Amino acid sequence: MEKRKIILDCDPGHDDAIAIMLAGKSPYVDLLGITVVAGNQTIEKTVRNALNVCQHLNIDVPVHGGCGQPMIRHRQMIADDIHGKTGLDGPIFEELTRRAEDKHGVNYIIDTLMESDGDITVVTTGPMTNLAMAMRMEPRIIPKIQEIVLMGGSMGLGNVTPAAEFNIIADADAAFVCFTSGRPITMMGLDVTRKVLCVPQVVERMDKIKNKASQLFVDLMRHFNKSQKEVFGWEGGPLHDPVTIAYLIDPSVVTLKAMNTEIDIRSTSSYGRTNCEFFNYNKKEANSNVAVDIDVEKFWDIIEQGIRNYQ
Ligand code: RIB
Ligand code: CA
Repeated sequence: MEKRKIILDCDPGHDDAIAIMLAGKSPYVDLLGITVVAGNQTIEKTVRNALNVCQHLNIDVPVHGGCGQPMIRHRQMIADDIHGKTGLDGPIFEELTRRAEDKHGVNYIIDTLMESDGDITVVTTGPMTNLAMAMRMEPRIIPKIQEIVLMGGSMGLGNVTPAAEFNIIADADAAFVCFTSGRPITMMGLDVTRKVLCVPQVVERMDKIKNKASQLFVDLMRHFNKSQKEVFGWEGGPLHDPVTIAYLIDPSVVTLKAMNTEIDIRSTSSYGRTNCEFFNYNKKEANSNVAVDIDVEKFWDIIEQGIRNYQ
């Protein structure tokens, strides 16, 4: 099976860090580069976190800092209640010597796609600001995007408001640009990510691998699970972002359903909602493939193998 070439746009973030880990040494994924966006923490912190994870795991890919605020809305949301003051509270990293590239993340996305043969998948696991800005700055990249795979949205309840999930509400305008781009878009929403709860038994399973990646996984999940329990009452934190990479490694890990998804950028209490036409009562044309179920056992097997890929 040919490796999937990807650009991973993220806001590390504990679950973003596991997505980087999963992609970093996978025989099924060619991680071309990482672009970083503000989200779980400010851009300075999310860039630092991405560099720390790559340095710690010896993942030799360029890291490009991107947008530090949403396209239009005034205030940058952060999720420090979950991810802590650093955005990656828990692990202690060595002195950081890796540096981010000079090129802005939006320009990296544009240049990489323009030079490509249209065989690059853009994975977003944070607010979609960088990708949307790239589309607006250089529309010629749009047909060059093989697929957009995002962690974000929800057919059901949100996690910031009853209506909206964090990655979407943090920059709903950017999500609107991406969902109306006409490119194949695959949405891993809370409907499936809330089924992969990193309960203590999972942490113990990965801890037994005893390599650098498993130790980082354990250190990350200890903090992530504690804050997820305090905020949402979960017995284990939903491992949101790695579902995108697991899908690229083995598409059968999720069940997808084609449907029309509209981003609500107009209302107040439902701002940032992903309105998914599951029953298509309104006979709207499908613009997205939405994950409606996940093979939980297969997902944790993919995570375990992803950790074992590190010596
Ligand atoms: O709602 C969960 C998403 O928001 C995850 O990507 C998490 O990392 C945060 O970015
Ligand atoms: Ca994220």
